[in-house]
Amino acid sequence: MSSTFRWICESTDGLARAGTLHTAHGPVQTPTFMPVGTAGTVKAMTMDAVRSTGAGIVLGNTYHLMLRPGAERVKQLGGLHKFMDWSGPILTDSGGFQVMSLGALRKLDQDGVTFQSHIDGSKHRLDPQRSTDIQHALDATITMCFDECPALPAAPEAIAASMRMSMRWAARSREAFIQREGYGQFGIVQGGTEPELRAESVKALTDIGFEGYAIGGLAVGEGQELMFSTLDVTTPLMPNDKPRYLMGVGTPDDLLGSVMRGVDMFDCVMPTRAGRTARAYTERGHINLRNARFALDARPLSPHCDCLACTRHSRAYLHHLFRADEILGPMLLTWHNLAYYQRLMRGIRAAIVDGTLSAHAEHLRAEWQAGDW
Ligand code: GUN
Ligand code: ZN
Repeated sequence: MSSTFRWICESTDGLARAGTLHTAHGPVQTPTFMPVGTAGTVKAMTMDAVRSTGAGIVLGNTYHLMLRPGAERVKQLGGLHKFMDWSGPILTDSGGFQVMSLGALRKLDQDGVTFQSHIDGSKHRLDPQRSTDIQHALDATITMCFDECPALPAAPEAIAASMRMSMRWAARSREAFIQREGYGQFGIVQGGTEPELRAESVKALTDIGFEGYAIGGLAVGEGQELMFSTLDVTTPLMPNDKPRYLMGVGTPDDLLGSVMRGVDMFDCVMPTRAGRTARAYTERGHINLRNARFALDARPLSPHCDCLACTRHSRAYLHHLFRADEILGPMLLTWHNLAYYQRLMRGIRAAIVDGTLSAHAEHLRAEWQAGDW
């Protein structure tokens, strides 16, 4: 029998927490970074490669999978874990955010959103019930509430109205959620960068009660300073005994600063997307491998990395692959970037456990600043 869905806090250092999330599909050590597997694939990666980086949980997208291949087909084929060969936990985003950013024509009303597929123009509808049903069909370990994320900047009244609608949708998402051992559903705090609205949103969600709480509506162009000041007024209001997930974030420095403000889970396309565009993240910041200075650079990308790109290949070879538009370039660099992100999170977690997070943070930032080796 699968275990109860629960998050156990093992250590704290300041506001930062090290813990373990127990799920029907196994445990995940937090803080954790979830690679984005939007369409049932972490782009350019085999799932063995994803596993080898130390990833414990991946993200999937309701929006993309409902359009192609369709949630019912995934269900018929045994669920998303089997379909994509990932036996660990999967968190699925609920689709609202993606409709607004990708959907061609879309019409929002108080009950949900009607939109045209960005793939073939076909008409679809998502609402709290449908989004939750789809996430069940996919067999998501963690189901997200259906919400709306307003583009910033926006008038406070518009952010308030949107947040209150998302809170009504959260109640309906909760009613639609079928409780199963080891599975959970997260509410999503909205409210832009307005402290009072964030507080109202946390209250609305904790009154409903979820297995975890996400912070949405950030990293949408407000900048790191405003994102951090919003976290400063939000995470202290959130339940201490439940996991906290900051959606769509971010750079290594964003992850570090957010963990130090009490966040446990992250997802972002940054390491995977960057890997496909020749950008490599390392302990010494980021570099672009298309740059001519790597043409004769026989060193590995990072001396600290055990990924395939770093153990078997030179920077000069990676440079060549990108210049020649070879598909192995994005594959190797995605692998490396995910390995770096996982190594970063393991280091942060170890520092929380040791009670040395401040010193570790200073060290990380100094190295990022120092520039390439
Ligand atoms: N991904 C990044 N931000 C958001 C958000 O506010 N809501 C949802 N559902 N997904 C997101
Ligand atoms: Zn590497």
